[in-house]
Amino acid sequence: MYVCLCHGITDKAIKQAVREDGVGNMRQLREALGVGDQCGKCVRMAQSIVDNTIIDE
Ligand code: FES
Repeated sequence: MYVCLCHGITDKAIKQAVREDGVGNMRQLREALGVGDQCGKCVRMAQSIVDNTIIDE
C-alpha cells in the first residue's frame, strides 16, 4: 500500500528502511526516502509504521 503518494513510497519500503538501513524515526526516514517532506499528509501513518516495525523486531 502506498503511504507517501508524493514520493510513491509504500509501507514495504518503509519497513525495509527500518530493518535494513537502520532508520529509527521520522527524521531519519525523511532523510532516507523523502517521506513527509512534501505535503506532510503521510507523516502520521509513516510514523506508526516505523514504530510498529521497531516493536516487531
Ligand atoms: Fe508524503 Fe505528501 S504524501 S509528503
